[in-house]
Amino acid sequence: MNPKTDSQRMDKIVSLCKRRGFIFQSSEIYGGLNGAWDYGPIGVELKRNLKNYWWRVIVHEREDVVGMDGAILTHPEVLKASGHVEGFSDPMIDCRVCKARLRADQIINNKGEKQCPVCGGKDLTEPRAFNLMFKTRVGPVDPRSSGTAIFPVSPQGATGPAGPSQPTHPSTMTAGTPIMPASGPVVSADDETAIAYLRPETAQSIFVQFKNMLDVSRKKLPFGIAQIGKAFRNEINPRNFIFRSREFEQMELEYFCRAEEGMQWLDYWKEERLKFYENIGIPRAKLHARKVPDEERAFYSKGTYDIEYDFPFGRQELEGVAYRTDYDLSQHQKASGKSLEYFDEETKQRFVPHVVEPSAGVDRTVLALICEAYSEDEAPDEKGKMETRVVLRFHPRVAPIKCAVFPLLKNKELLVAKAKEIVDLLRPHMFVFYDEAGAIGRRYRRQDEIGTPFCVTVDFETLGEKNPALRQTVTLRDRDSMQQERVAISELVNILTSRVR
Ligand code: GAP
Repeated sequence: MNPKTDSQRMDKIVSLCKRRGFIFQSSEIYGGLNGAWDYGPIGVELKRNLKNYWWRVIVHEREDVVGMDGAILTHPEVLKASGHVEGFSDPMIDCRVCKARLRADQIINNKGEKQCPVCGGKDLTEPRAFNLMFKTRVGPVDPRSSGTAIFPVSPQGATGPAGPSQPTHPSTMTAGTPIMPASGPVVSADDETAIAYLRPETAQSIFVQFKNMLDVSRKKLPFGIAQIGKAFRNEINPRNFIFRSREFEQMELEYFCRAEEGMQWLDYWKEERLKFYENIGIPRAKLHARKVPDEERAFYSKGTYDIEYDFPFGRQELEGVAYRTDYDLSQHQKASGKSLEYFDEETKQRFVPHVVEPSAGVDRTVLALICEAYSEDEAPDEKGKMETRVVLRFHPRVAPIKCAVFPLLKNKELLVAKAKEIVDLLRPHMFVFYDEAGAIGRRYRRQDEIGTPFCVTVDFETLGEKNPALRQTVTLRDRDSMQQERVAISELVNILTSRVR
């Protein structure tokens, strides 16, 4: 691999992403917010298509998985029980020379001597644990007053932080009972009971809602609970564009099973997830299922695979598939005092289920899709001269725009009217884009650059002016081969829906 070429490729991708409306730096006009990104009109479609496809294959096409959507603000007791408050940290080192804050694994080891990767300085602090969670305060906070707790007392009165003026038990609360009265007392800024966290993973709300989800879905083991949503980590060094951010999205499945089946389900889900990536256009040759060695694995995991992809900046993790045993449910059962057991009707046994967790990053997969799709080839310009064509070869099922529709000329009323009719015909079935500006070759190039797999052009043949047999037909152009076929307008919906699903 030539690192120079690859960093050039990455630069081109980042610049294309901004220029064509995939991804912008967040708060850009104020200098940017490090580790946060905004998706533009094309990027948001790509991201949505990815999430929708994941939801389709993980939830809709299976009998054994249900979905949920949990809150981002998380009760501190949840994250204490899960181990995040105590242990969700990266070792951080400061360079005393250039003041850079670094993750310990970024420090250069130069023949046994530690060096700052930014300035080469050797005056470094000892590593110290830096907790990656974003802490916030819930309710109005007044730094001058002492206030009132915002969390209701837990039924046992023991585990949760107490609040004297709050409803104390769910059974005493009615639908209208406010947790925090609108005109209630303010919370003092140093009041620990006002703390909540932005969730560092979506998984914990699944574990915490296990009992409710089991009761309402009436599923039998093995079954899964799926969730897509934001997660937040105060990464020491966000980097590689959207690869490592402070705000990102996850697609997580917690698949509950019996202890004796855990290892089998781990292998099953590793294979399913590899297939998923292949089905969105990432070739198997660029995917790697790395078996995480014992010494790297979380202490509660009996087996973990990292699914990695060959990014232009190196081989990096897209998703973790982990057999987490019964650790999470057991921890929450202990800390909350609520049973999270499963009752097996057949054997009349009660037990805490084990779980296998495929946990994927939305943004990392978006980046992998763009990196994989990016290519340059040669195509003729209007005068037939060959020029470089930038094309994103997205799989049609994730492509942001499925089909662009053009009238050959914008000043011919009949062509324009027919093209708009076709847009109306296709719109209920897929996201389409109408464009009449510029030469037809330019319009094709603009669509190639954002990965639109099909373009439909309405020309004089469509109107039947030269050959009545071609009336009501259009050209359908394929992005990758640039070949055009003549198809009947009445066939378009069928042809295109079968190719983009
Ligand atoms: N519930 C398990 C869990 O969160 P993880 O390996 O920490 O496991 C799962 O995260 C996935 O979330 C990763 O494989 C990655 O795709 C994504 N992810 C984690 N941290 C990220 C970050 N800072 N920026 C973007 N994506 C991230």
